[in-house]
Amino acid sequence: MSREKSSAVQSIEWREDHVRIIDQTYLPGRTIYADIYDVGQMWDAIRKLKVRGAPAIGIAAAYAFYLGIRDMEEQSYAGFRIEAERIGQYLASSRPTAVNLQWAVDRILNTIHALKDKPLAEIKQRILNLAVTIHEEDKRICKCIGELGQELIPKGAKILTHCNTGSLATGMYGTALSVIYHAHEAGKKIHVWVDETRPLLQGARLTAWELQRAEIPMKLVIDSASGHLMKTGQVDLVIVGTDRVAANGDTANKIGTYNLAVLCKHHGIPFYIAAPLSSIDISLPHGDDIPIEERDSAEITHIGGTQLAPAKTDTFNPAFDVSPNELITAFITEKGIVKPPYTENLAALFSRD
Ligand code: MRU
Repeated sequence: MSREKSSAVQSIEWREDHVRIIDQTYLPGRTIYADIYDVGQMWDAIRKLKVRGAPAIGIAAAYAFYLGIRDMEEQSYAGFRIEAERIGQYLASSRPTAVNLQWAVDRILNTIHALKDKPLAEIKQRILNLAVTIHEEDKRICKCIGELGQELIPKGAKILTHCNTGSLATGMYGTALSVIYHAHEAGKKIHVWVDETRPLLQGARLTAWELQRAEIPMKLVIDSASGHLMKTGQVDLVIVGTDRVAANGDTANKIGTYNLAVLCKHHGIPFYIAAPLSSIDISLPHGDDIPIEERDSAEITHIGGTQLAPAKTDTFNPAFDVSPNELITAFITEKGIVKPPYTENLAALFSRD
């Protein structure tokens, strides 16, 4: 029986009049699809991580924006625009850290502004077309990141990754996982350490699922094993994705990424960030300004509905952290590998074709 490669999994799909997503909260046990017909359903799906990963929530928000304006009865452009801006704000409020969400909303709002002289029916159709374009672009971008990034991976490399950055988190292939898929396909005989990624276990549930389907050699480890692995010479490089990169290269990613960055510096191990340009927020001078999402305490007091901590335990549950630019060896983008100085070299990406 031929096994479908995980790099071909499509986590979001436009289906004529609605969006179909893989509900990632059921993985790996069950592959359940959720059909989304309105913007409120998508807000909820993003908030609850049914669809997750920075590029994927940008794509999901783009389709949801269209669902939000599709049935709007407004007749005047002025009224339509006010309502569209409200939808944009609403969608962006679902999760604050990944800039891809705001990036997709801004791209749609700019298009709505540029089309102000067109009939509303045409504007709506153009927004659906734009959502499809954002989705298709992301697939090409992720492939490109994989092809360029795999050049950095030595033969036989032992690679550690955190969270899930694969097909599930993007249009297809992924960012950091795309590099891993491409290195594997290039015959580099890599081995991947998969961090479990507490508290929501994106590594254990999703990355392990993707890598297993793609038949890439890997082992799942608890997050706190990384120091031991590095100290005992079992990690050659770390590669992760990102939710937002500030103009100076400071990088937000899943909580625990900063720990890895510090450990890499201590052990002299390369620490790479795979980042599409849609995740780079050139408007933010440094990482201190990146909003960090705080999530429900039940995510850390319970696992799978079972209570671990005593009742009423006070918690602090930041979903992301920021790794300072000086800990980052290079960024892998669709426009090439970016090395320090980051302020100049990241800005230059935006003026390059
Ligand atoms: O909370 P999540 O699962 O949406 O967090 C996802 C991450 O932190 C990923 O590393 C990041 O979005 C990059 S995905 C290509």
